[in-house]
Amino acid sequence: MVALTSKEKKRIQKKILQLYAEIERHNRLYYKDSRPEISDFEYDCLKSELLHLESLLSDEMVKIGIGDDRSGNLLTRKHYAPMLSLENTYDLDDIFDFDVRIRKLLAAEKNIEYVVEPKIDGLAVNLIYEKGQLKYALTRGNGFEGDDVTENVKTIEDLPWHIANAPDLIEIRGEVYMDNEIFQKINMERADTGEFVFANARNLASGTLKLMDSEAVRLRHLKILLYGIGTGNCLEKQSEIYPFLQELGFVSQTYYHIITNLDDIATVIRRLDWERKQLPYATDGVVFKVNERALQEKLGVTAKAPRWAFAYKFEPERAETILRSVTFQVGRTGMVTPVAELEPVYLSGSCVARATLHNADDIVKKDIRIGDTVIVEKSGEIIPAIVGIKLENRPQNGLEKLIFPKNCPHCNTQLIRLPEEVAWRCPNVNCQEQIIHKIIYFASKTAMNIDGFGESVVRKLVEFGKVKTPADIYVLQKEDLYLLENFGEKSVNRLLSNIERSKKIELWRFINGLGIPLIGEKMAKDLANHFHHWDALAVAPLAELGRIRGVGRKVAQGILNYFRDSKNLDLLQRLQKVGFEFEKIVVQYNPHFAQKVFVLTGTMQQFTRDQAKKLIEKNGGFVANTLSTNVNVLIAGSDAGQKLDIAHKKNIPIWTEIDFAKKLTYAAP
Ligand code: IVH
Repeated sequence: MVALTSKEKKRIQKKILQLYAEIERHNRLYYKDSRPEISDFEYDCLKSELLHLESLLSDEMVKIGIGDDRSGNLLTRKHYAPMLSLENTYDLDDIFDFDVRIRKLLAAEKNIEYVVEPKIDGLAVNLIYEKGQLKYALTRGNGFEGDDVTENVKTIEDLPWHIANAPDLIEIRGEVYMDNEIFQKINMERADTGEFVFANARNLASGTLKLMDSEAVRLRHLKILLYGIGTGNCLEKQSEIYPFLQELGFVSQTYYHIITNLDDIATVIRRLDWERKQLPYATDGVVFKVNERALQEKLGVTAKAPRWAFAYKFEPERAETILRSVTFQVGRTGMVTPVAELEPVYLSGSCVARATLHNADDIVKKDIRIGDTVIVEKSGEIIPAIVGIKLENRPQNGLEKLIFPKNCPHCNTQLIRLPEEVAWRCPNVNCQEQIIHKIIYFASKTAMNIDGFGESVVRKLVEFGKVKTPADIYVLQKEDLYLLENFGEKSVNRLLSNIERSKKIELWRFINGLGIPLIGEKMAKDLANHFHHWDALAVAPLAELGRIRGVGRKVAQGILNYFRDSKNLDLLQRLQKVGFEFEKIVVQYNPHFAQKVFVLTGTMQQFTRDQAKKLIEKNGGFVANTLSTNVNVLIAGSDAGQKLDIAHKKNIPIWTEIDFAKKLTYAAP
């Protein structure tokens, strides 16, 4: 190593201190506040820069720790065996170095097997079972002691609280995560109510796990996948852990490969990179683990990580493009969302032309300007987001600063920001754009499901003054619809009959369509199950609302406020006159469906998707969109695609349309 002058040393020390402070700030934002400002990739870059600088000053070398996720609000408890971190890299060559190092340390050993498995982008937890009972669930914390999140972890469906045939004390380790689908839904609801949105599923899962109210946690449907054992491991191989855990009733790794040399490593990584995109949760790399436990023990651990494991992380897929413009969209609640309109660019197999800019603060923080070269990233592989700009590409004479509007871009009313909200809102309840979105939502698939009553139809009818509220939909006449472009007799009649059909619908659709704050599809279903008509909901006292599963204080207050607002009462009075006949879903017991989760794919001959969904629900089952670990059956019509392959691989039972029809005909004995 070249000797450093004292000036150079000082400069490096100064930089190291700056990096410490920066990393510590990001640790705090990530672990404690669940609101990181930089991506994992940028964070890892900071860490490797620090490690590099530290290695230059080898005499003064101080290692950074493994982070600390303890929130300070929860009780803490010690792990029996420490929970360490993983050494990680984005560089394929480092995997070979890892192998060389292992072989050197295990000189006498010829046959070294590695298990290669997905690295789940969630939160590490340690489940402590004593005499077969789940006693504690702890976060990793500082590695030795973590936050006690037992009650919250117990809300996870499919997690056994009792296990048989296990040692008296066993620590089972894995990752708590949130499904992409649920993440998107919750984030959308948050955006609607003006709460800040989480950048990715991991942050939302971590924020959720640390909530103080387990009932609120239950509604977020966290999941858990277990892949390791701390104290109490009596197995000889890492690869035996997964079937062992499955036998005990846990969800464990199914996508793992055992390799004996690294010759095919690029192929294995490519395969896992493909497989991970089919998974319903976010993964950010693959983990290599020496398979033999005896060898793991020989290799031992450093202060930070085991020497027998190593993570190769996938670089987030990013692309550079030009920001053409920013549109400020006004939603049904008046919230203003900035959306980046981009020069279209290919990213993770799809064409991206729009990306989220989250909120006004984000624009200021990133100082994004029209014409800038921006970096788009698929955060958690879901919604593309702008994660940075290339300042060096900005023209010499600069670009104009982007100004978040002070007034509503549609009705010009001055925007307001409510205390504790990040979002700016248009407070004008008569703002036409809000009205349009309220009506679109009312008619949408998850509400009244009026086919053909989409955005363009709504915009035109509002523009012509024919529709001002959802109630106006039901007084539309033929001549009103003839005003629509390309609407002849056939389309007019079809639309009118679709409107007519929506009068006979399930109650939950109506409740959802009203757009009561914090009420989405799931909550609307719970409310509809409890109240048999919306007018019973309208007069329900706080205490009664509080008794319904999942209704917290905020939701109950939102419902009360909604039904106290005279504008809403006027609307309901007019809707009352429409003559809705609400169908109640009467659930009949059918053992083929009861409490089971189904996914539908392909096309069926006898049933539309909607009909099939209704029938499943009527028979006591649930319908999900993606093949997560808790799916019991895939129902595959003709032309079923990828989902069918995945179900085969994951051994998820598959029903054909004929099987489905047969099971529906179950008659109680
Ligand atoms: S094994 C001693 N396997 O990644 C640590 N970790 O960045 C052994 N993680 O703290 C961990 N998926 O929370 C292991 N398949 C997997 C994993 C995994 C995600 C997490 C784990 C760890 C972190 C390190």
